Amino acid sequence: MSSDQNKPKVAEGRADKDRVVIFDTTLRDGEQCPGATMTFDEKLEVAELLDEMGVDIIEAGFPIASQGDFDSVQEIARRAKRSVICGLARAQTKDIDICAEAIKPAKRGRIHTFIGTSPLHRQYQMGIDEKEVLERVTASVTRARCYTDDVEWSAMDATRTEHDFLCRCVEAAIKAGATTVNIPDTVGYATPDEFAGLIRMIVERVPGAEKIIFSTHCHNDLGLAVANSLAGVGAGARQVECAVNGLGERAGNAALEEIVMAIRTRGDVMPFWTGIDTTMLTRASKLVSRVTAFPVQYNKAIVGRNAFAHESGIHQDGVLKFAGTFEIMTPESVGLKESSLVMGKHSGRHAFREKLKELGYELGDNALEDAFVRFKALADRKKHVYDEDIEALVDQEIASAHDRIKVVALTVIAGTGGPQKATITLDIEGKQHTYESTGDGPVDATFRAIKAIVPHEARLPLYQVSAVTEGTDAQAEVLVRLEADGKTATGRGSDTDTMVASARAYVSALNKLLARESRRKPESMLAS
Ligand code: KIV
Ligand code: ZN
Repeated sequence: MSSDQNKPKVAEGRADKDRVVIFDTTLRDGEQCPGATMTFDEKLEVAELLDEMGVDIIEAGFPIASQGDFDSVQEIARRAKRSVICGLARAQTKDIDICAEAIKPAKRGRIHTFIGTSPLHRQYQMGIDEKEVLERVTASVTRARCYTDDVEWSAMDATRTEHDFLCRCVEAAIKAGATTVNIPDTVGYATPDEFAGLIRMIVERVPGAEKIIFSTHCHNDLGLAVANSLAGVGAGARQVECAVNGLGERAGNAALEEIVMAIRTRGDVMPFWTGIDTTMLTRASKLVSRVTAFPVQYNKAIVGRNAFAHESGIHQDGVLKFAGTFEIMTPESVGLKESSLVMGKHSGRHAFREKLKELGYELGDNALEDAFVRFKALADRKKHVYDEDIEALVDQEIASAHDRIKVVALTVIAGTGGPQKATITLDIEGKQHTYESTGDGPVDATFRAIKAIVPHEARLPLYQVSAVTEGTDAQAEVLVRLEADGKTATGRGSDTDTMVASARAYVSALNKLLARESRRKPESMLAS
């Protein structure tokens, strides 16, 4: 691996020095946030899309954290075509060695090692002094350089670190061979001017700064992650760490789509560029939302449902006359297509396959057949089937393809008369189980019946219903989050029947929890 290979290519007419390297941490920092856990297959799917979209560096995981993390980083490293594959490691020999092993199959691999530098982290988290931190910086970067010449070093909680000490740490990392130095705003505390000043100060003061790339990694606790990252770029940083949909610890990381589109749209005041194919941003957002079951806020910039919707008469009138009156970027530039009426119940397999292709799905023959059968059933019940309906249906198909527990049938008695009752049949690895339960409303009855078949102690911190499209025949999309033993899993279910969607969402979350306890067979959880 040579450092030349890791250099971004120069696009025609655009200078190398103005290129902003996009470092995506959806699969590491993003996946760390409660409820956003992804399965092995889901991580591969996200990584494949990021690679195709032109993400320069994919932080694929934290290999020492678990066998699952190690395996997914290694497999992503094996499959990546263009992106550099990066693994995270604490400033510890074992972390770095295991990280190196995980990224080994990559055409281009990076080790990202970090340590807390602020007084709070030194005193309370690690109980070590400045001298010890400096020694660990040198030792960790030196160790990482034995494996690859692409090494990133991060000063965790940099924005609350004394400037002099931060500069000494950065200098030590550069001397030991770091090629990228990241200045995280770990707790989302900085303001844009302050953050720009910090980057400028480091670039000016630290010997060797001109040889390396500086990076931003801003959290969104005050809603300033994107503004701070862009201010950092203006001050000399040329890598931005970000995540699709702004996923990440607590309030999240800087949103990739916002960084990329801000740079593209405001080239007049930010004369930089990225290698991202922006027409894939909507697809990336939808995929990450599906696999994490984290909904995208309706008014979220760039990828929210309303981001390009014009409601007021004056705006609609203006956009119809000339889009530029109220649109600063086109929906097409982020890959948004007009929602169109899909085929009806007489549409055939071929048309269905073509529609899926257009929406960005490629399913195997079996999955396609299952999705087609569900589409036909939906078209029988619903007058108008839109792109969003197809997406909800296929997302559900993909999400449940490997589930050990599936919903086979559900009958619910609801209404004012009471008692509300649910009878559910679940398929558990080929065997069917039926249970009838009463409850405080039909949802409660349904969930109780599931719990009777698959006993578990999981809590239900989230139950949320929304409509996929407009109209009383719209499909309901339900999100269910379950929490057990400090772990959370979120499931999503859709159907024109809200109760069926609820049962599917609950079972989907349950499957995810069970997948984590893979040694625990569902049979062993069945009621006798
Ligand atoms: O927020 C942070 O400081 C991090 C580091 C590990 C880079 O995520
Ligand atoms: Zn972070």
